[in-house]
Amino acid sequence: MASTSRVLSGAQPTADSYHLGNYFGAFKQWVALQDEFEAFYFIPDLHSITVEYDPAQLRERTYIAAAQLLAAGVDPERSALFVQSHVPEHAQLAWVLGGITGFGEAGRMTQFKDKSARSGSDSASVGLFTYPILMAADILIYQADKVPVGEDQRQHVELARNLAQRFNHRFGETFTVPEAHIVKATAKIYDLQDPVSKMSGSNQSHAGVVDLTDTPQQAAKKLRSAVTDSGSEIFYDRETKPGIANLLTIFSALTDRSIDDVVAEFEGQQYGHLKVALGDLVGDFVAAFGDRTRELLGDRAELDRILAAGAVRAREVAVPTLQLVYERSGFVAP
Ligand code: TRP
Repeated sequence: MASTSRVLSGAQPTADSYHLGNYFGAFKQWVALQDEFEAFYFIPDLHSITVEYDPAQLRERTYIAAAQLLAAGVDPERSALFVQSHVPEHAQLAWVLGGITGFGEAGRMTQFKDKSARSGSDSASVGLFTYPILMAADILIYQADKVPVGEDQRQHVELARNLAQRFNHRFGETFTVPEAHIVKATAKIYDLQDPVSKMSGSNQSHAGVVDLTDTPQQAAKKLRSAVTDSGSEIFYDRETKPGIANLLTIFSALTDRSIDDVVAEFEGQQYGHLKVALGDLVGDFVAAFGDRTRELLGDRAELDRILAAGAVRAREVAVPTLQLVYERSGFVAP
């Protein structure tokens, strides 16, 4: 198998922009992992059609996602950055894996249960049901060792492990059994209006979500209006002071300083001081991030070129894996 360990992850282009939680909870780790691993990062557009969506919007969101991943520091010289639908082997492997996945096994996926309950199970699509099998294919087609994801995706990575082991057992050693690489809690960012729920593009109100496309004024205002806790002293305690803990986490993440160091800086000051200072910091951050993203989005031909090169690199691994899988499955060679 691969000499350098492989890391793989994807983030759905479900909104018009990724947000600060995606950046600190995922992309910063992806960028750091590029130093140590052979990295594959992709935009799972095939996953995005499992719920109602608008085609023109999906296309635009896919470009925005690519530009934002590049702006975040994904380096196309070192990592394969690509769009899932450009590599047909994902869908082809998903079909094979579907044959060894139990109906009940797929039905136990909690994300499917949550999402289908929300839309009413009659309107939930078959694609939403088989979504985790496609995700397993995304991972296994690259023989990935590590999959950086949030806690909510752990069960899906577990399914990928089970399917890899099952296939290997029935048809002979074929797949690397991947491991979830769960992001550390310190980088986890919560909603500014509801600091016990994680920051998420699907949260009802956007007042607590800092989009990476926000203007500095919008971002600073969201920080200044963040919900804080009773009391007035600034210290870190997720249980009794989730609002302040969240602000301290964001401050620490943005400045690469320890929480203790940030707490010490604000000793004796009011919540308002922290919110204003952080509002300025986040404002500066989104200003710079937005400039880089707009520059990348301004040259679609260059973005297309980067994504095409990423897909070529991805297929160098995906094609031989699928070939081996087809051989092991008993398909006659074409
Ligand atoms: N399901 C993931 C999410 O919603 C996105 C995803 C699709 C993914 N395929 C993947 C993540 C493979 C890691 C590996 O966040």
